[in-house]
Amino acid sequence: MKFGYFDDANKEYVITTPKTPYPWINYLGTQGFFSLISNTAGGYSFYKDARLRRITRYRYNNVPIDMGGRYFYINDNGTIWNPGWSPVKTELDEYECRHGMGYTKITGKKNDLKVNVTFFVPQDYDGEVQQVVITNEGSAEKSFAFFSFAEWCLWDAQDDSNNFQRNFSTGRVEVDGSVIYHKTEYRDRRNHYAFYSVNDEIDGYDTDRDSFIGLYNGFNNPEAVLAGKATNSFADGWSPIASHYKKITLKPGETKTLVFILGYVEMPQAEKFEADGKTINKVKAKAMIEKYSTPEKFEEGMKELKTYWNKLLSILSVTTPDDKVDRMVNIWNQYQCMVTFNLSRSASYFESGIGRGMGFRDSNQDVLGFVHQIPDRAKERIIDIASTQFPDGGCYHQYQPLTKKGNADIGGDFSDDPLWLILSVSAYIKETGDWSILDEMVPYDNDMSVAQTMLDHLTVSFYHIVNNLGPHGLPLAMRADWNDCINLSCFSDTPGESFQTYTNPKFAAEGGYSKVAESVMVATLFTYSGPNYVEILKHLGKNEEAAKAQAEIDKMKKNIMESAWDGDWFLRAYDANGEKMGSKECEEGQIFIEPQGFAIMSDVGKEQGTDLKTLAAIDERLNTKYGLVLNNPAFTKYYIQYGEISTYPGGYKENAGIFTHNNAWIICAAAYAGQGDQAFKYYSEIAPAFTEETSDIHKTEPYVYGQMIGGKDAGSDIGQTGKNFGQGKNSWLTGTAAWNMVAISQYILGIQPDFDGLSINPSIPHEWDGFTAIRRYRGATYNITVKNPNHVCKGVASMEVNGQAVDGCIVPITDGQKEYNVVITMG
Ligand code: BGC
Ligand code: NOJ
Repeated sequence: MKFGYFDDANKEYVITTPKTPYPWINYLGTQGFFSLISNTAGGYSFYKDARLRRITRYRYNNVPIDMGGRYFYINDNGTIWNPGWSPVKTELDEYECRHGMGYTKITGKKNDLKVNVTFFVPQDYDGEVQQVVITNEGSAEKSFAFFSFAEWCLWDAQDDSNNFQRNFSTGRVEVDGSVIYHKTEYRDRRNHYAFYSVNDEIDGYDTDRDSFIGLYNGFNNPEAVLAGKATNSFADGWSPIASHYKKITLKPGETKTLVFILGYVEMPQAEKFEADGKTINKVKAKAMIEKYSTPEKFEEGMKELKTYWNKLLSILSVTTPDDKVDRMVNIWNQYQCMVTFNLSRSASYFESGIGRGMGFRDSNQDVLGFVHQIPDRAKERIIDIASTQFPDGGCYHQYQPLTKKGNADIGGDFSDDPLWLILSVSAYIKETGDWSILDEMVPYDNDMSVAQTMLDHLTVSFYHIVNNLGPHGLPLAMRADWNDCINLSCFSDTPGESFQTYTNPKFAAEGGYSKVAESVMVATLFTYSGPNYVEILKHLGKNEEAAKAQAEIDKMKKNIMESAWDGDWFLRAYDANGEKMGSKECEEGQIFIEPQGFAIMSDVGKEQGTDLKTLAAIDERLNTKYGLVLNNPAFTKYYIQYGEISTYPGGYKENAGIFTHNNAWIICAAAYAGQGDQAFKYYSEIAPAFTEETSDIHKTEPYVYGQMIGGKDAGSDIGQTGKNFGQGKNSWLTGTAAWNMVAISQYILGIQPDFDGLSINPSIPHEWDGFTAIRRYRGATYNITVKNPNHVCKGVASMEVNGQAVDGCIVPITDGQKEYNVVITMG
């Protein structure tokens, strides 16, 4: 069942009922000010850090779901309603929500009154602009009361949600004309305030929540709205809010337009107040309000936003035989990659914004998805990440976005982390041809006095693996590898111990983790990412170092084949007892997805047919109509030696859930191995646009990836195997976005930036006649036509560049050339 449709021309998803199977959200903002907005206008705003600068309040895991947001209420002679349906939930005569690129438009109609609200965060602007257009579509004059509503958060979202003994007594506001200012703690230790304005005179306001809502009422029936009149309340402690009240009369056909702004302002210490020493200095706020004070200025801002997105999205656009592929590649997958870049894993409807900082591995992988759009910011991000590395190549697992410092609470020793840096730096060079990033001086642990070049960082990354091998010559698993839930040094039997941060004291003498437990996944990630490092060294003429690194890769491949090939697939690990994990010999968890794709893509044991055998086993054991499960069979009991993975009921998360992130590695591997049909099958099982038809099962947004989909074992724990199979969770902020962008654009469509230029080597469904693409790359435009007359899945029979036949599949770069017309004939 569908709950809307794609409007590709406008790059929007149009939701046609407010009762979606889960709140379907969008993100506003790209730089400092961010908002989450659901299809019923729920959500919240923050400045840069969703924990420390939360502007409006939101209660996660609320009942009913998604309560709290920016709400407009109408009291039309006793009929009370919201244009976004919620929270009053009066049935509307018309409803529509259009989530677009950085904006959301919600329209509701009731009793001839149509209200259309557009929300967006302009470029270079620290506020959410909301334009409300109210039209009387009836034949009689209408008079009604109109209210806005936002609830302030007392800045630190974590403290706000638990320190009530203090917080109920700190809230402070100021009201100046039609602007309500939130200034809790501004007099004391903060230099920031927020405001909510409207570009018109108002007939009243409320700033105290209980006065507006009433202690025993809810968002769905605020007393002031019921009464049709504001109380002009002034918050002093308790919960400050901002609500404007306006009486409006509209003749038939008449329209009223209002522009509201929810803004954030930082002030230098010396300029915080007016001369009286206590009134907020509002100069900056007034300038912000002025900037979007009219519908014309609003339109101008929207136009700039559209230009910004159109430009970003025009760097890659494709026309394939499948319009779902086109809308993923051209619009939504690229959009999600940018949102994930901006937000990392901090704030979604599943990430509370107070938990995780920027992940070392996560942020490096995110780069793979957006580097073509904003390479400069990718470079900056890569340098920030690398600056939190330790001199031995180990890494802080996370860093804080405001300070950019490594997070000591989590620490390091995640075995995969360093390798992702090799991939992100390589991706940056392959995209831009800017080798100078390797010369950048980058600190260790943010200490500039021990800075070395980025190339040195890659070297310590590479050798961090080589220097930390276990008994089989495979990388030590340490606290965890990519799969945070395989914790081989944890042995946790105490509630509350974090599987990610707790390591069993029994390993203290060995340096904190088992020197026996080994990760095959890191081994194959090493053989997959390592060759990039070798290429880089060769390019720099460092042939001896290149040969030395290559020897390590070859040795690793040998070790994998000797100790980690299970006959039909690759093992997952050796646990701390030296036992195999992910082997036929195991009772449960016999096969895991993670090591397989990288092994195939780095030709480990290829001469013995490991690639095709492994792909066949994956198809048989892991594939389902909703994607590939992470492992099989699911764990049905707690394996203390494996850790968190076995704490989830079967079919969820890392325990045999469809973890969409690593599905992409198999899509890439199948494409690499020439199985274009298989690759596309796996792609379409999970790509959001393909799940649209089953939105009732999938539940989360059909325009973005989620981290997880319930696997075939979902429900098995309660004897209802298949219950929740196909149900999506944790949408938006996931490495899935980047990796699936890579999978479809670089492996299936085969348009892959390489060190020496753009490589085009598709691996597509055999029935495709071909496709076309436009790719802007290193300052030139590539107009690509792929023809598939013989209906093969893979193979470049010939390539023509500007009419000239060229060998191979890398388009040679000619200095100064601005346009390349590339024709590929497959065969
Ligand atoms: C989740 C993982 C996540 C980890 C760290 C676990 O509970 O299942 O997906 O990476 O926590 O936050
Ligand atoms: C989500 C985390 O953000 C990511 O770092 C991890 O690789 C996956 N979960 C798998 O556990």
